Amino acid sequence: MTATLDLSQQIARRRTFAIISHPDAGKTTLTEKLLLYSGLIRSAGMVKNRKGRQATSDWMGMERERGISVTSSAMQFPYKDRIINVLDTPGHEDFSEDTYRTLTAADSVIMVLDAGKGVETQTRKLFEVCRLRRIPVLTFVNKLDMPGRDPLDLVTEVEEALGIHACPFNWPIGSGKEFKGVVDRRSREFQLFEKTAAAGASQATLERFEFDDPAVDERLGADVAERVRGEVELLEIAGNEYTDEDFLAGKLTPTFFGSALTNFGLEPFFDAFVKLAPPPSARPVDLEDGTEGTREPDAPFSAFVFKIQANMDKRHRDCIAFMRICSGRYEPDALVKHHRLGKQIRLARPHSIVAQERTTLDEAFPGDVIGLISRDTFRIGDTISLDGGFDHKPLPNFQPELFARIAPTATSLRKRFDKGMKNLVAEGAVQLVWPLNNPQDALVGVVGQLQFDVLQYRLDSEYGVETTLRRASFRCSSWLVGDVDSFVAPTSALVARDQRDQLVVLFTSEWEKQLAARNNPDHQLLDIH
Ligand code: G4P
Repeated sequence: MTATLDLSQQIARRRTFAIISHPDAGKTTLTEKLLLYSGLIRSAGMVKNRKGRQATSDWMGMERERGISVTSSAMQFPYKDRIINVLDTPGHEDFSEDTYRTLTAADSVIMVLDAGKGVETQTRKLFEVCRLRRIPVLTFVNKLDMPGRDPLDLVTEVEEALGIHACPFNWPIGSGKEFKGVVDRRSREFQLFEKTAAAGASQATLERFEFDDPAVDERLGADVAERVRGEVELLEIAGNEYTDEDFLAGKLTPTFFGSALTNFGLEPFFDAFVKLAPPPSARPVDLEDGTEGTREPDAPFSAFVFKIQANMDKRHRDCIAFMRICSGRYEPDALVKHHRLGKQIRLARPHSIVAQERTTLDEAFPGDVIGLISRDTFRIGDTISLDGGFDHKPLPNFQPELFARIAPTATSLRKRFDKGMKNLVAEGAVQLVWPLNNPQDALVGVVGQLQFDVLQYRLDSEYGVETTLRRASFRCSSWLVGDVDSFVAPTSALVARDQRDQLVVLFTSEWEKQLAARNNPDHQLLDIH
């Protein structure tokens, strides 16, 4: 079938997105159910590979030991008449800068909230990246089958905590044990669900009723039916009006209620998602003459690197550079321009990662992710294309929250250590900062502990350098914009320069950071730069 579709049809059917959430809100469960409803798996409960379930990946020895998946890339599968690319955004212990960077490869985002908890810290941070990149966000309020907070409260919290308008597309009928389904606001249908096999292993059965159908009163009880009708009517009067324009500009989030575990509300949500979420579109680029432009998805082939995965194969020191295709058709063995290196390279041995198994790819289109095996060829943010003359926008750096001093265990390893650090910093694996008052005493900065572990692992396995790592007491940081001499730093903060020669301030607490912001109104403290 794919052979008969032209490039524009291939683009139009693609939906490339990431799911963001605070750990335990239900991202894994929702992803798994997307596979269930796409028909890719017949029974839920197979995909997860943590908490004692068998790990499916053996790319890094460390992964196996920890029972987690370090690899984050993408899964591709058809959902009805669309092709879905779900970009993996690891949370939990495998949270790292890659989680943020992956968002730059997404055309839209699903934000999953736990109905009992609302907007939590990690969601807030990830959402901030979406806001800056103007990525359209859909919200799925999960776990309605558990006693949770009032839906209206949750909608208000999304608006206040994230500064975005929320527009409920459906409205829950009861919650906890009394959660019976949702009212779809557009069709004004009551959608009642039946609980199926344990933990929603198979698809939920759904019955639809018109808004005023007396059968609803019989099923739910007249008082519940009337209350829900009243709430829905109230939303019509007081709620935000949805427009594609506001959604696509990242100003409004279509909001859905449901339960990923019991499958309540899932299929209508997925159906709405593929309709609302945008296909790959033009992306901003920097042109050779120093001006800005855009690259349409039907332009000749181009892609950018958003993630580098080390050590996929223990016998080699190879990495896989994951790229998002932004324009054109990818063809195997194509000769393309590597913009940073200014040379032609052949796209040999590309891979797509489907459910964490490597398969070789014949063709790929805008929105798709390809993995290229490389050794020292790629860095985060690199652009490749058929025609050249532009660069996809550089990827931002994200505020490191953990810092450490790292050193080789023997002085004889110093040279190799320095080389390894230089390469790994250039590649984007970790950030490095040099205190202004003591530039010899460099600190490594990361957003998640996993990055330290990967750093030590790679220095050892790729450069033969065993290291010791001592954590520093800093807990957050900001890039400093303004005159450094007039900046009044809190006593335990540290002002440093990063690898791009930008000023960065390390703080021992969020409180201290806020204090610094208050005491320095003429300076800017940025979390993403
Ligand atoms: P995450 O990827 O966002 O971290 O969350 P994950 O899907 O792993 O879900 C975290 C826990 O919440 C899991 O329970 C999962 O079963 C549960 N969960 C997810 N969606 C729902 C829902 O709609 N309703 C209810 N009641 N629970 C939900 P766990 O006991 O921690 O793990 P498991 O052993 O069941 O997998």
